[in-house]
Amino acid sequence: MTQTTRPPLSTLDGQPIGRFAFGCMQFGGRADDAASAAMFADCRAAGLRHFDTAYVYAEGASEKILGRLIAPERERLYVATKVGYAGGAGSANMRAQFDICRQRLDLDSIDLLYLHRFDPETPLEDTLTCFAELKQAGLIRHIGLSNFAAWQVMKAVALAARLGLQIDVLQPMYSLVKRQAEVEILPMCNDQNILPVPYSPLGGGLLTGKYARGGGSGRLAEDDRYAARYGQEWMHHCASDLLDLAEELGTEPATLAVAWAAAHPAQPVPILSARSSEQLAPSLAATTFEMTPALYDRIAALSPRPAPATDRLEEA
Ligand SMILES: NC(=O)c1ccc[n+]([C@@H]2O[C@H](COP(=O)([O-])OP(=O)(O)OC[C@H]3O[C@@H](n4cnc5c(N)ncnc54)[C@H](OP(=O)(O)O)[C@@H]3O)[C@@H](O)[C@H]2O)c1
Repeated sequence: MTQTTRPPLSTLDGQPIGRFAFGCMQFGGRADDAASAAMFADCRAAGLRHFDTAYVYAEGASEKILGRLIAPERERLYVATKVGYAGGAGSANMRAQFDICRQRLDLDSIDLLYLHRFDPETPLEDTLTCFAELKQAGLIRHIGLSNFAAWQVMKAVALAARLGLQIDVLQPMYSLVKRQAEVEILPMCNDQNILPVPYSPLGGGLLTGKYARGGGSGRLAEDDRYAARYGQEWMHHCASDLLDLAEELGTEPATLAVAWAAAHPAQPVPILSARSSEQLAPSLAATTFEMTPALYDRIAALSPRPAPATDRLEEA
């Protein structure tokens, strides 16, 4: 894949947002105030500046906790939130949720606003007009989409261009056990100068190896949606093989999984996450891990490569 030149998104004080983000989905849920503050401090110590939350996370507690943590150094940070997970992508719902996001975060303007998922009931023109108005009013700096198929993004790109806008960021799911994004999403981002900021680089915890080690407790054991998402047998074999490889190399599978997700040629910015500082440490170690091309290929070989979009396997 030829690398495109993309002017890096930056913080208000002009720093590039960096190669990794932290996701605050657990703030106010599985991570209480103290655990959230400790993880935030760990991220800052590791040089992370980009923090991701959403209107729906922990019924608003995630945004409130993040708002308190960023206050002393707002200008140095890049804050992203999402609207429209429920209630649709129409302007009235997006604006109503966005105003609540700003109140909870205690911010007048937000660096990056995502539509959380595609809404087949709302014309994309309405959504993009809403983004255009928010941007024109200085309430958002960048525009993001999440959980969109490539054709939906390209439709949004074309409509946005008519309004003089660009889609800045796409947030897809991507990990060693969820590689669909390699087929169209990541090449499209590269081609369109859209920054890919993928979520769940650990497959919701599967790629930490804790379930392969036996007796692992966590999201996959507690949440039926995640159990189904990561329920296929080959995914568990992959996690087990990654654990073996990490043991051979004297590192943690989580470190390999996060570093691998970041090393795709489209240069995605994975969103790390955890429920405690202890959990977060191996993911943060990925930010300084040296991923060689040989190791990248070895890790990639642990899971099936998705078929090309044309299905012409012999040409892949
Ligand atoms: N746009 C979207 O639709 C969407 C969807 C999901 C997430 N996101 C964003 O992406 C961020 C990351 O997503 P994610 O939480 O799914 O990422 P992930 O990295 O795949 O999973 C993180 C989870 O893995 C487990 N874990 C992490 N480190 C561990 C360790 N060392 N040992 C044992 N378990 C460990 C923890 O869950 P347990 O302890 O419960 O196992 C932790 O919450 C979120 O915070 C959110 O900002 C966006």
